[in-house]
Amino acid sequence: MNGLKWLWTLIYGDSSIGRKARIAITGLLMCGFLVSHLAGNLLLFKGDDGESYNNYAKFLHSGEMEAVVAGAEVGLLVLFGVHLLLALVTTRENTAARPTGYAMKQSKQGDSMLAAPAYNVMLLTGVVVFAFLVLHLVDFRFRARGSSHEPAHVVEKVDAAHANKHQPITRTDAIRLLRDPLTSGVYLVGCLVLGYHLVHGFYSAFQTLGFNHPRYTPKLRLLSIVFAIVIGVGFAIFPVWAHFVTIPGDAPAAPPGATATTP
Ligand code: HEM
Repeated sequence: MNGLKWLWTLIYGDSSIGRKARIAITGLLMCGFLVSHLAGNLLLFKGDDGESYNNYAKFLHSGEMEAVVAGAEVGLLVLFGVHLLLALVTTRENTAARPTGYAMKQSKQGDSMLAAPAYNVMLLTGVVVFAFLVLHLVDFRFRARGSSHEPAHVVEKVDAAHANKHQPITRTDAIRLLRDPLTSGVYLVGCLVLGYHLVHGFYSAFQTLGFNHPRYTPKLRLLSIVFAIVIGVGFAIFPVWAHFVTIPGDAPAAPPGATATTP
């Protein structure tokens, strides 16, 4: 009961300024997770037959990391849930305060490329990222989708290994999952939309928390763009790259000059 009351106060309590501060803090904390997640994923690129990535995944799934990872998962769930709920409540409040919707569509900073999008655009992009995240967790965390898109000779083997939720996902499994047409498309769009969300979100979070300095504010704007591109494009590269990398089980490349035959 106390927990519920606490959650209620966290979302509805306080002024809308306080609520925006909580959106900013939860958003920045999630940015920290994104940086560490991207850094870990970069190991997928290492051409050492997956040794570095597989060791990293094994370490995350080891007994000593179990409690840390479980805590991080709960923390992320709370951060994401609170961030989204606060954004919903604030957008609804803004809409109610300006029923014509005119001011909602206006930017705070005029018509520059970095002009703040309306709050409802931030909400929409946040919901798209949420949808991407649901598919991502179904695939990578809960391993609930098989690899039916793979050639028949690898399907059974891959699905058996993948279904074992106690085993870390290997580099080969991760690449196979990323090759799924639905995954590729949704991840590409989801990650680019995440980048767009961050261009404004990152900058705005610091502003909300009171960062405003004639000399450093323009630098913060630039930093937000760089950060958003690194995160958005950085993650979006994986589902594209997965189609071009060779992994065990791939059909051997045809020798030069060979013509394709149909069985
Ligand atoms: C598109 C590139 C991405 C790849 C290749 C990727 C890969 C992975 C992998 C391999 C796992 C670990 C599954 C396991 O072993 O248990 C994972 C988990 C996760 N990913 Fe991603 N990810 C990507 C993008 C993202 C993005 C953009 C977000 C956030 C918006 C995200 C959020 C998460 C979360 C919350 C988890 C669960 C963490 C946990 O269970 O500890 N991922 N991802």
